[in-house]
Formats: sequence, C-alpha cells, structure tokens
Amino acid sequence: MKQPIISFKNVIKCYDDDVPVLKNVSFEIEEGKFYTLLGPSGCGKTTILRMIAGFSEPTEGDIYFEGRRINNVPANKRQVNTVFQDYALFPHMDVYDNIAFGLRVKKLPKNQIDQKVKEALKMVQLAGYEKRGINEMSGGQRQRVAIARAIVNEPKVLLLDEPLSALDHKLRLDMQYELRELQQRLGITFVFVTHDQEEALAMSDEIFVLNNGNIVQSGTPVDIYDEPINHYVADFIGESNILNGTMIKDCLVEFAGKRFECVDEGMRENEPVEVVLRPEDLDLTDEEHGKLKVKVDTILFRGVHYEIICYDDEGNEWMVHTTKKAVPGTTIGLYFDPEDIHVMRFNESEEDFDARLESYED
Ligand SMILES: Nc1ncnc2c1ncn2[C@@H]1O[C@H](COP(=O)(O)OP(=O)(O)OP(=O)(O)O)[C@@H](O)[C@H]1O
Ligand SMILES: [Mg+2]
Repeated sequence: MKQPIISFKNVIKCYDDDVPVLKNVSFEIEEGKFYTLLGPSGCGKTTILRMIAGFSEPTEGDIYFEGRRINNVPANKRQVNTVFQDYALFPHMDVYDNIAFGLRVKKLPKNQIDQKVKEALKMVQLAGYEKRGINEMSGGQRQRVAIARAIVNEPKVLLLDEPLSALDHKLRLDMQYELRELQQRLGITFVFVTHDQEEALAMSDEIFVLNNGNIVQSGTPVDIYDEPINHYVADFIGESNILNGTMIKDCLVEFAGKRFECVDEGMRENEPVEVVLRPEDLDLTDEEHGKLKVKVDTILFRGVHYEIICYDDEGNEWMVHTTKKAVPGTTIGLYFDPEDIHVMRFNESEEDFDARLESYED
C-alpha cells in the first residue's frame, strides 16, 4: 500500500473526566477514496472528524498527514475542509459570498476568486445561483452550497459530518448519488460520517464500523455485509438472523438443534460460536426439502419482497426475505447453502478474523 494520506496511531481521547470517548483508534486512509465512519450516536464519529480537521487534539497517540505528524498543526494549516451537519453557512450572505469567503481571507486576486467560485458552483450544479440568499434555498441546495464552499479551497481531504441527515428520503437518495459522483470526479479523499448503514453501504469504498469509541471492523461494504466480525456488526449492518451455535469441526456447525455443512474453518472443535444467516439468503421450500422445518408466523409485503417471520422447533425466530408467499400457521422448509452460513467467534480481534478468512477463502 502506498503512503496513506491520513493515519491514526493508537489515538485516545478523553474530555473533562478520565473516561475515554475514543479508546485506542488506529486506521489508515488512502488518497482518492470514499471512506465512511459508521456507528450509533455517541460512538465518537464527530470526535474523529474534529481531530482530522484540527479542531481537537488527541489525549494520547498520533495523527499523521502524508507521513508527517500533525497533532499540533492548527486547523487553518491543514489541507482539509469540513462540511458540517448544519452546513454552518452565513445566512446574511448570498451564495457567491459564502463560497468566496475563504478565498477572500486568503487574499486571492478578485478575478481568481471569481473563476474559482464559478467552477465550484458548476461542480455542484448551482451555476446561476450566485446572488441567491441562503434563506431562499432548499435544504438540498444549501447542502450543495456548503460543499462548494469546502471544495473551492481545493482541499486534499473533505470531511462530511452527517451532511444528509436533514433531508427527506428522496432527496437524500439523490444526494447520495451526487456526492459519490462528485467524489469520483474530483478524486478528493472523502471522509463521510453517518449512522445510516444503507447510506454507508451505498456510498463507500471503505467503511469503519465504530462502537463505543472503538473501530470494530473495517473493510469494503461487501466484506462487512458478507462477513461481519461479530454480533454487533451483523446486527447493525442489515437485517440478520443471529443464533447461538457450536463449531463441531472445520466446515461443520451446529445450531437450531441440527448440524450443517458450512465453509468456515480455523476454530477450535466444539467452540461456542454465533451464526448469521441473512434473510435474503434463505429460501422457502416444502417441509421435506428444507434444511430446517419452521412454522410460518406472519407475512408482510415490503414492496420488492415479502418479509416472513417463522419459528423453528427450538423456538428460534427466522426472518426470510423472498418473493414467494407463505401461509401463516403452515409448516414449511427453509433452504440455504453452506456459504450462506456465516460463523462468528466470540471476541475475535480484527487481525485474527482477517487472517482466518484469508486462510480459507482462496
Ligand atoms: N466537548 C466535549 N466535552 C465532553 N464530552 C464530549 C464533547 N464532545 C463529545 N463528547 C462526548 O464524546 C462522545 C462521542 O461524541 P461524538 O460527538 O464524537 O459522537 P458521534 O458519534 O458523532 O455521535 P452523533 O451520531 O450523535 O453525532 C459522546 O459521549 C459525547 O458526549
Ligand atoms: Mg456526531
């Protein structure tokens, strides 16, 4: 891997009391990619962004930018710009003046400012809006002004703190496409914060999943969705059926009172594990062709598929997403393939998890 543009090495952050809000955070960010920090409220996402931006210093540990330690470098000396959650636009200024603000502070000549502001507006598809007041624009347009104001400074890294959370669902989806497209066009590194797992999956090259001041898993959206490291990630990212089980031996796991062939290896014999099966990986069939016998409880129409809740003989609940219909009260079979079973160890480190996966994936 080439030199990362940003890296955190064992960063700990404590505010007033001694309880750390970041416990020991290390990660590397490569230039030109779209990264997402994903986690529930209070897990430390904004704290990490503020440290990258230079608004806050680590209590312990180091932050590097292109290999240089920047712990004490002030915000205005960093090649980083932030789009804040509330956009923090100047309400009394028009669009042009909002975007030109930083360039004027830098005392750029007027014709250069003019050219850069026009370019930035074009990039966010707001050409012609120069003289509009901020209060005369929609939420989505304001958001684009905030992005234009950040990219006009030509930062190497753009930080975005939940920029879409104030928008309605439809506009939010549109902006997801626009942001992703803009990032690819500009080739700037984006670090995007969200607590919305679908948004993270749709937009990112790499996701860091956070919980309680720690990064619990990092990887591509597909990696994290297909191979969650533990119960927390499996539950947070997408819908899951999570069951307790026992790893009998390599490629053989027991759960719901039966043994199933799987593809996981490298655990102890008879090790207690948790097992994840995604609702869309389960198929309905008749009782004798199923791998598991279940009783249908409820069925909901979700537009693209039915969501069916059923129970096995041991009382475990199963959620199935399928285009097939089922009748509540009937007994049916569930079918799944060995590779649809994802086995998770308790308390496995990300390093061990990655190494184990690599050992049998080829
Ligand atoms: N200036 C501060 N002083 C003391 N505690 C703080 C300060 N800023 C944040 N915290 C605490 O640090 C923890 C992490 O906060 P942070 O803002 O990073 O969370 P977040 O992941 O961005 O959450 P949200 O999704 O709600 O924005 C929280 O428990 C918060 O109360
Ligand atoms: Mg936050």
